[in-house]
Amino acid sequence: MISPIIVALDLERDLALDLAKSLDPNNCRLKVGSQLFTSVGPRVIEELSALGFDVFLDLKFHDIPNTVAQSVKAASNLGVWMLNVHTSGGSTMIKAAKEATTGLVDPPLIIGVTMLTSLSKKDVNEIGIQDISNQALSLASLAKKNSLDGIVCSANDVRRIKELLGKDFITVTPGIRSSNSSKDDQSRVSSARNAIEKGADYLVIGRPITKSTNPMESLDSIIKEIS
Ligand code: C5P
Repeated sequence: MISPIIVALDLERDLALDLAKSLDPNNCRLKVGSQLFTSVGPRVIEELSALGFDVFLDLKFHDIPNTVAQSVKAASNLGVWMLNVHTSGGSTMIKAAKEATTGLVDPPLIIGVTMLTSLSKKDVNEIGIQDISNQALSLASLAKKNSLDGIVCSANDVRRIKELLGKDFITVTPGIRSSNSSKDDQSRVSSARNAIEKGADYLVIGRPITKSTNPMESLDSIIKEIS
């Protein structure tokens, strides 16, 4: 069985491809975000898929409903396994995203971003939000009500979200850090083990693997930590 780890390839093309070639598609999935996609384009999805990986296209669509629906269709045509939209785009936009995949033979999972794990209490207060966790929970409910497959959230929010929305509602958690490693620009972090214990379905992990001197060893040690 593939591990729940999704490695975030926030790298330039050659480094991303070299790293992918050193990893095993039976062990992890890969995430392509705005850095890699903007510099290489859809070709990188083909290249990673040809290596046998499930690809999560993390472009966090957030626009008017028609634009998001057309973007979701275009991303689905690339054969990605998972993609995401911002839940703060509202219910009409979320519904349009989901409906854009109706009738596809092998539709991607569509996941809603709730609150970015990099946001601090001060950051959210500045944009008029008082409580990060309550806001994440309310955006997760909106995602579920409009038929998304799951959400991206901090591991700290998983337990409450699963209790409210059911264990089958997928939770994808970035911000994974061990207690002795740098948080980088992330705020709401959790260890891999803690995230799994709280019920997270997938863990998105970037720099702790990609910036490690031995990425394969780092991935293996995280897999050991959670098994
Ligand atoms: O390097 P690090 O482990 O912090 O990478 C986390 C990845 O997850 C990044 O690619 C980032 O874009 C992504 N992400 C996130 N928070 C979200 C959604 C995606 O950190 N809410």
